[in-house]
Amino acid sequence: MYDLIRPLLFALDPETAHGLTLYASDVAQRSGLSHLIAKPPADLPTTVFGIDFPNPVGLAAGLDKNGEHLDGLAALGFGFVEIGTVTPRPQAGNEKPRMFRLPAHEAVINRLGFNNGGIDALVRNVEKATFRGVLGINIGKNKDTPNERAIDDYLLCLERAYPLASYITVNISSPNTQGLRDLQEEETLRRFIGELREAQERHAGRHGTRKPMLLKIAPDLTEAELDAIAEVLLASGIDGVICTNTTIDRTAVAGDPNAHQTGGLSGRPLFAKSTAVLRGMHARLAGRLPIVGVGGILDGDSAAEKMEAGAALVQVYSGLIYRGPKLIAEAVAEIRRRGILA
Ligand SMILES: Cc1cc2nc3c(=O)[nH]c(=O)nc-3n(C[C@H](O)[C@H](O)[C@H](O)COP(=O)(O)O)c2cc1C
Repeated sequence: MYDLIRPLLFALDPETAHGLTLYASDVAQRSGLSHLIAKPPADLPTTVFGIDFPNPVGLAAGLDKNGEHLDGLAALGFGFVEIGTVTPRPQAGNEKPRMFRLPAHEAVINRLGFNNGGIDALVRNVEKATFRGVLGINIGKNKDTPNERAIDDYLLCLERAYPLASYITVNISSPNTQGLRDLQEEETLRRFIGELREAQERHAGRHGTRKPMLLKIAPDLTEAELDAIAEVLLASGIDGVICTNTTIDRTAVAGDPNAHQTGGLSGRPLFAKSTAVLRGMHARLAGRLPIVGVGGILDGDSAAEKMEAGAALVQVYSGLIYRGPKLIAEAVAEIRRRGILA
């Protein structure tokens, strides 16, 4: 089905195609037709950071920034759905065009810049949804909040998202909010995660339930930076790490007509780099913290390789643009076939 409509979607600008696809998944779900768009994946249950997942293949952050399409997306067969990045106040994001396809590389470059309706709108959307699956809420800061006060934005989003989320992702790795990645610096990160961890424990006490908190990191970190981050993570008592966000490196797409576009590169050319960071993190954490692997999963093999490199769960985004929702069942099937979770 998706193979038939892909040429039509690719004739539209990427953001329009994106909106149309989300709308179509909602309509399909409401009319009970989601099975026509995507064959449901096999069951492959797994438990990670205390949460039971029906399968280990989830939707990465950024597709449903406001949690407006939870029911439609869930019906496609994801084992979990991560919404956001959400910021305290609504913001428009960068000027359009700000999303570009690189079809020869099965890649995307985006510089959306956390366009979203703000945390209050996201909370209302999640409360309205009938979705009862595993829900990640990915939090960030507003563009006009300076880094010195970034913690206030994250604390506010954490407080509001906490009761609704199955887990929270702290995103400090988008390349499209100026200075955001500086929060990955060792001493800054230590203080930053420390404050969020204290808040997490307070919310756990108040709500009588502890929700895991994960940190999402960039693929553009040096070995020394990865050493420092791993040390901070282990000392902090955080629950897990997501490897990785998009890259600012263009080596893998050199010569493409869109390679010069500013923003984060995702899709197939990100696979090697994000998997290397995942493998390196896995070695450093030595099984003490679970890792979610994301970046360049385009088929069953790449999903299974992420798991073999040390991921306990995987997420997809760009692969959905190029392969459609059948990617979910394919990924689950290959992970199952290789007996990775057995
Ligand atoms: C258009 C677009 C928007 C994204 N927005 C976000 C976001 O808001 N927050 C975030 O943490 N990651 C965001 N990402 C990154 C993805 O979640 C993922 O980490 C990255 O795209 C690598 O996975 P992929 O190669 O499967 O796309 C975005 C990616 C794309 C392509």
